[in-house]
Amino acid sequence: MNKAFEKVIIVTGGAGFIGSHVVRYLLKKYSTYQIINIDKLTYAGNLENLKDVSDHENYKFEKIDIVDAEALRAVFKKYEVTDVIHLAAESHVDRSIEGPMEFVLTNVVGTVNLLQVAKDFWAGGENHVFHHVSTDEVFGSLGTEGLFTEETSYDPRSPYSASKASSDHFARAFFHTYNFPIKMSNCSNNYGSHHFPEKLIPLMIHNIQNNKSLPVYGKGDNIRDWLWVEDHATAIDAIFHRGRIGESYNVGGLNEWTNIKLVKFLCQLMDNKLNRISGSSEKLISFVGDRAGHDKRYAIDASKLERELGWKPSITFEEGLEKTVDWYLENQDWVEKVTSGEYQKYYQKMYTER
Ligand code: NAD
Ligand code: TYD
Repeated sequence: MNKAFEKVIIVTGGAGFIGSHVVRYLLKKYSTYQIINIDKLTYAGNLENLKDVSDHENYKFEKIDIVDAEALRAVFKKYEVTDVIHLAAESHVDRSIEGPMEFVLTNVVGTVNLLQVAKDFWAGGENHVFHHVSTDEVFGSLGTEGLFTEETSYDPRSPYSASKASSDHFARAFFHTYNFPIKMSNCSNNYGSHHFPEKLIPLMIHNIQNNKSLPVYGKGDNIRDWLWVEDHATAIDAIFHRGRIGESYNVGGLNEWTNIKLVKFLCQLMDNKLNRISGSSEKLISFVGDRAGHDKRYAIDASKLERELGWKPSITFEEGLEKTVDWYLENQDWVEKVTSGEYQKYYQKMYTER
């Protein structure tokens, strides 16, 4: 056992949106843990997201593709890893529709590699945890009524959610078959700082700021249940430490909004921030062709997490959106950095020519 640290935790996907918040949160809260960020640095992963903690003495970064089992084995050995919080994934539904195979490789093959390597490395050991982070999209699409619970049957409908559902099944299979110490969470849509500007909220903020058109898919009546990303980090902390082995926990803030209501709210908020005439940003809204197989509504029942672990979201959506808008307005250089280079071609194609 590694004597220097109480735990040595691999966080995969730590250079991405949610992963960077989880890494930062753990480093600040637990001075006796070492955090090893494993990330391939795809277009969505950027070390800029962690520049405020990159010099922390308990932090290490390893540029590794989780599809590479040899490299994973070497890292487990090098650091004597005790736990895993697994977030690395291809995460954008539109990209999964354009090309599913990258999603199969990272989300399915990569996850099974990680499970297998951790299982071999920890063989016979005790008190390890493998926390698999997943999405509510594995449950499919809701009608006007009802919420996803932990008992809802899986019904993934996009290539992204199909790949995440598959990874969830493998994680559960490792628990049932090998008694491997899995904990799981399925969370609703996150928002906050460092969110890659291909997803709805950061894309709209960026386009409003730059007076570009705001592409709303279909009629804009699809519903998402939004959660402040730092609240997701506290939920992961609670589940990782106090959740029951073999259990999954839904994470969400009971915060359903239609896309059009959300986009209009952002327009109003940013008209104020940018000293524009009220109503001027809304004129940028453009209803475009719908996403293929677009899930109608997601909504999470997170009562198990509240009941068992006492978790609750900390801020309202309106407060969180204002903080998010402020962060993007103050960090335009971040947006420029993460949308330059490899991503640029894709970004142009998807959003500028649309
Ligand atoms: P993201 O796309 O912002 O970040 C993903 C990270 O994984 C990036 O840093 C990327 O470089 C890395 N990565 C991708 N492929 C890799 C590979 N083969 N090997 C190593 N690293 C690789 O994603 P996110 O929004 O932060 O989501 C993180 C996790 O949370 C995902 O598992 C996602 O399914 C889940 N999740 C996301 C949301 C959401 O609203 N964003 C909601 C619920 C669950
Ligand atoms: P997104 O942020 O891609 O998350 P997810 O598809 O995983 O829920 O999209 C959120 C919602 O916003 C979804 O209903 C699709 C819609 N959307 C738009 O209307 N326009 C856009 O440009 C994007 C990226 C998404």
